[in-house]
Amino acid sequence: MTPEDIRARLAALQEDDLPVHGGRTLAYVYDAGLAEVDALAREAVAAFAGSNGLDPTAFPSLLAMENDLVAFARSLVDGPATMVGTLTSGGTESCLLAVQGARDSRPDVRDPSIVVPDTVHAAFHKAGHYFGVRVVVVPTGPDHRADPAAVAAAIDDSTVLVVASAPSYADGVVDPVPEIAAAAAARGVRCHVDACIGGWVLPYAARLGRPVTPWTFAVEGVTSISTDLHKYAYAPKGASLLLHRDPALRRPQYFAHAGWPGYTMLNATLQSTRSGGPTAGAWATVRAIGDDGYLRLAEQALCATDAIAAGIAALPGLSLVATPESTLVAATADADLDVFTVCDEMAARGWFVQPQLSYGDRAPSLHVAISAATDATAFLAALGSSVEAARAAGPVPVDAGVAELLRTLDPASLGDAELDLLLAAGGLAGDDGALGLPERMAPVNALLDVAPPALREAVLVAFLDRLARPVPEPVTGSFASGT
Ligand SMILES: Cc1ncc(COP(=O)(O)O)c(C=O)c1O
Repeated sequence: MTPEDIRARLAALQEDDLPVHGGRTLAYVYDAGLAEVDALAREAVAAFAGSNGLDPTAFPSLLAMENDLVAFARSLVDGPATMVGTLTSGGTESCLLAVQGARDSRPDVRDPSIVVPDTVHAAFHKAGHYFGVRVVVVPTGPDHRADPAAVAAAIDDSTVLVVASAPSYADGVVDPVPEIAAAAAARGVRCHVDACIGGWVLPYAARLGRPVTPWTFAVEGVTSISTDLHKYAYAPKGASLLLHRDPALRRPQYFAHAGWPGYTMLNATLQSTRSGGPTAGAWATVRAIGDDGYLRLAEQALCATDAIAAGIAALPGLSLVATPESTLVAATADADLDVFTVCDEMAARGWFVQPQLSYGDRAPSLHVAISAATDATAFLAALGSSVEAARAAGPVPVDAGVAELLRTLDPASLGDAELDLLLAAGGLAGDDGALGLPERMAPVNALLDVAPPALREAVLVAFLDRLARPVPEPVTGSFASGT
């Protein structure tokens, strides 16, 4: 393919993606609305895309930028002079490393566990799965915040880490970090605050005079914090920070291996070769926006959040799950309104809002992560008409027999053929067997919603497995030169 062909094809491929600018994609991406900063960051990503953070002596530029980002973050999280940090590829990697480091700091514990509220991000369950650490889940109270007494009661001799969120993704509220950190400290256990989403907003919210539950290193007992640059620092994707109160806490996160004939592998993260692109992109963004810039962006996003929360509270048919404490809003729908249809109607109007399936006795909801670039008035106008359209469309019925089948199916017993049938029945495969998403997702979500979590996982893993297959022909043309 020629360079022109490739550019044209890339542009065509991107047309099917959600927009990353405009403030209307309210999950996955975060938009500062600052075109110049964005352009600068992309230049920085391109300039360092081939540099390798594997060896900081070979690429000292990357080390310098990483240390600078950690220093900037220290001012946000009340970090003591001893605070250190590591740049990772994203929130999940930061959370994984917090768990791995905690596990490896306690070689004396034979059956390590972590204590987490049920609202903790799924990344901690992934960490438990990867690192052979038991995840002890503590139910949250009616306010969706972790219950400190229940967390304290769940800590035992096997506990290597306790986690709190600032804020939790699903509900957007901050856990009572002081009480949880105190309970962990009383047992000599590490306490991680997952501020992946709030880390670059809550400090500015506090500076703007808003009430913010204490969650930083100013809280005694907090030993590590994750905060994502690629969320509310508005950096290009692939950048998060894992911060530790002191170097000794970080030490078990490091991996070195000299017992082979090659170079001594020395890593601070799960990755070994690490592109310099995200580091440079994050550094350029943070330095271009700066402290004052972030204060303004936080004010914009928080004011938009207030307006959106107030608008939802006033909108017949929808109710807030909780009063937002940062920039996340979740809302449930009345019985006569299908919340998944509201999401579809929003998509038809150019807004991506994320459906959240029911969990335990919690109703399904819609979820938005509001960016500085989000126009609250336009959002509420679209939401109002989406609710009307969804109400007019009526409920999305799930056949009682199908619902019963989904509730009772044992996912472990399902082979590929059964999973294929389920995918077809759920509308995730066309008549020709071709996989893809239907125009409207509400019928799929309605089916997933009646399925227990383990069945949802099995069906969606099967879906992903079948999507991620090489196509028989290359995307376009030939990869051989000149054809
Ligand atoms: C609280 C929290 N923790 C962890 C993560 C995982 O971050 P990532 O998607 O960057 O891996 C998220 C993502 O939304 C989050 O909100």
